[in-house]
Amino acid sequence: MNLTVRPRRLRSGENLRKMVRETRMDPSSLIYPLFVREGSGIMEEIPTMPGQYRYSTDTMGEKLESLQNAGVTSVMFFGIPDEKDEAGSGAYDANGIVQRALRQARKDFPSLYRVTDVCMCEYTSHGHCGVLKGKEVDNDRTLNLLAQTALSHAEAGADMVAPSDMMDGRVAAIRSVLDENGFYNTPIMSYAIKYASAFYGPFRDAAGSAPAFGDRKSYQMDYHNSREGIREALLDVEEGADIIMVKPAMSYLDMVAKIKDIVHVPIATYSVSGEYSMIKAGASLGYIDEEKIICETAASAFRAGCDIYLSYFAEEIAGFMKEGKIG
Ligand code: PBG
Repeated sequence: MNLTVRPRRLRSGENLRKMVRETRMDPSSLIYPLFVREGSGIMEEIPTMPGQYRYSTDTMGEKLESLQNAGVTSVMFFGIPDEKDEAGSGAYDANGIVQRALRQARKDFPSLYRVTDVCMCEYTSHGHCGVLKGKEVDNDRTLNLLAQTALSHAEAGADMVAPSDMMDGRVAAIRSVLDENGFYNTPIMSYAIKYASAFYGPFRDAAGSAPAFGDRKSYQMDYHNSREGIREALLDVEEGADIIMVKPAMSYLDMVAKIKDIVHVPIATYSVSGEYSMIKAGASLGYIDEEKIICETAASAFRAGCDIYLSYFAEEIAGFMKEGKIG
């Protein structure tokens, strides 16, 4: 055959394939989501997320240490309180579970970068992401509570806050309260493009945060929409978001690719609980190769254009990067 152009030429050996690789990754882009709960001496496996645990503040150090040893330098804290109430007061309590975990981590692992999820749903008795007015989430009354939550996190040692509630105007509300209190250098990573997704199912079991009635469709986005996501991202950047997140990751990488060229801040994407659990379940049945699937899904998120990748597999991914399996 007289073929001048042969794309296979550049695939002919491992050295050359790596030389022409378009996507380069390293563990500094990874954030590990960690569940901390009340109590002591607790490390309980989450039934719907095998291999993931709820830690008490005195046991989480073990996980933080192994993450650091693997090269993962950032953790996102999620709190599981014992008590919940209508107003989600555990979220902004100076002695709440996340606040105590932050102080502990700051003391024991000072070089770890501490990010917090800012939301009400783990703390409200009704499981919604804000306070209620009748059966509706009251957007404007929730804003101040979110801002107080972010402030209490910053005061307890959060390096970055990440609002995931999807209330309108929350980035601006958080930015102004942080600034008023001298935290003008604390970045906000906004879950700007967050879809109402069944992929959060296992997380809600882990955090006991499933809504007691209704769903989250009046604040999280409809998954049929794309232009609306661009609007959300632009709005949050205008309000002062330093980083924009797309969530979930796997089924939404079109949004990562799309906003990469539209907003000029770093892009994060969150490979959520359902993505994790599907891989775990498929692998445990022997249907898929866990290691290869983890590598492929992580690489696809970076190929789409994310700068930051949140994953329950962060420690494994860092290991695969070190071994040269991806990256
Ligand atoms: C809080 C929040 C959720 C997740 C991250 N922050 C749950 C939700 O919105 O229902 C999901 C994370 C995951 O599924 O891994 N609002």
